Amino acid sequence: MKKRVLSNVHSDKLYEQVHDYLLERIRRGEWRAHEKLPSIRTLAVEFNVHRLTVFKAYQQLKLNKKVYVKDKSGYYVMPDSMMLIDSQHNPIVSACVHESSLSEIHQVQADYQFSKALLDPNLLPNHYFSEYVKKVFDLYPKVLGTYSTIQGDLELREALSRYFTDQYRFYVSSNELLITSGSLEAIDLIARVLIKPRDAVLLERPTYSPAIDVFRRQGANIIPVEIHPYGYQLDQVEALMKKHKPRLFYLNPTFHNPTGYTVPAEQRKRLVEMAHKYQCLLVEDDPYPDIYFEEKPPLPFFAYDTSGCVIYIRSFSKYIAPGLSIAAVACRPFVMNYVLKAKSLSDSGTPLLNQKIFLHYFFSERLQQHIEKLRIALEIRKSIMEEELSVSGWKWSSPNGGFNLWIKLPESISMERLLEKSIEQSISFVPGSIFDPLKEYNSWIRMSYSYLNEQQLRDGLKQFVQLYRLLSLSE
Ligand SMILES: Cc1ncc(COP(=O)(O)O)c(C=O)c1O
Repeated sequence: MKKRVLSNVHSDKLYEQVHDYLLERIRRGEWRAHEKLPSIRTLAVEFNVHRLTVFKAYQQLKLNKKVYVKDKSGYYVMPDSMMLIDSQHNPIVSACVHESSLSEIHQVQADYQFSKALLDPNLLPNHYFSEYVKKVFDLYPKVLGTYSTIQGDLELREALSRYFTDQYRFYVSSNELLITSGSLEAIDLIARVLIKPRDAVLLERPTYSPAIDVFRRQGANIIPVEIHPYGYQLDQVEALMKKHKPRLFYLNPTFHNPTGYTVPAEQRKRLVEMAHKYQCLLVEDDPYPDIYFEEKPPLPFFAYDTSGCVIYIRSFSKYIAPGLSIAAVACRPFVMNYVLKAKSLSDSGTPLLNQKIFLHYFFSERLQQHIEKLRIALEIRKSIMEEELSVSGWKWSSPNGGFNLWIKLPESISMERLLEKSIEQSISFVPGSIFDPLKEYNSWIRMSYSYLNEQQLRDGLKQFVQLYRLLSLSE
């Protein structure tokens, strides 16, 4: 039997790891409704823990109605319908608030989708995009019948290599670049090859929530690092690196999702030195660097790295072409070899057609000018959101870029009730706990100003503030 090794954490926490592991597998549908789950004895051997630890994990799952016990014969998967029997609440609300599931909130069909950290499709230059599609078919008549190489189209990698040197002053050769289908794929590949159960992984708190799920699925021991408007407390990060010897630190230091915070240049340099000293890889996720409102953000961590301890993931899907889903991973050869292997098992390369269209479209002068307009449009939308919320008494730190406001509400109101009533009024937002590896931040929310137009922002926010007032009066 394959043994799973749990983190070397306090035994009170061991059952939580068994619990999270089982829950993740149930969620992924590895066991069907009413299917019998492995016995306590089997799991205890598999995880090399005491049976009581597994029992405690099962009790927690039972309490949360994820499993049920049948005739003392063992634990069985609770079907969805049974899970919801006792819930008087909207299932989407329950999933968001109790299970921290981001995908649920994206299913909400609302008129005012403040939950979507996506670009308003009307802000994309659709009218001339089609010209590049045609151009690609003229230039590469066989493109539709051709797979990409696993690493990605060489012409695109060479263009990106020049682009990174021009823009960010770091040299990365085409061999040190991998094209992926979005940055989430890159995070997933990196986690697959670098993390095994029990490895310590540092994650910002709050953080991009799918990253929590990806590292948790690998069985990582997740150690949170608070991110503040001024960055991290580096002495604390150093203490964590010293104590836990983390395999990697996943970070999103520029216009961070969900907070909008940016880690200053000085900290970037010091953290890279620290990572080198403690042999901890820094996985830098950078999907918004061009969406700055005043000054350009500092150079990526990758630009300060001379030892190969930074893996840089640059997504081009958030504001260039979400429909093409192109991202690039820059890393040194010893990491690239592993990641390439994982990519070859995941697909046969990111679609060549998407890569070629992206190449001609992204490096066109028109698109670069368009990004300038995007910055202005998004800054206006951010100002509108801040203006409408200024009467609310809520608190946030105004971001210098990105798509989101990270807002602190007074603690008096139930998040579940607020989300439920908002959805009834066709308004969606994301509860803060979704972004928290510790599932706290219960009085924080993320609202995106990127998806709705100016009028929708004004109307929706007026309605939302009014709703909040009414609810807080009745609590
Ligand atoms: C920090 C962060 N990483 C990754 C992603 C996913 O990007 P992609 O669409 O390239 O997979 C997002 C999208 O919201 C994000 O905010």
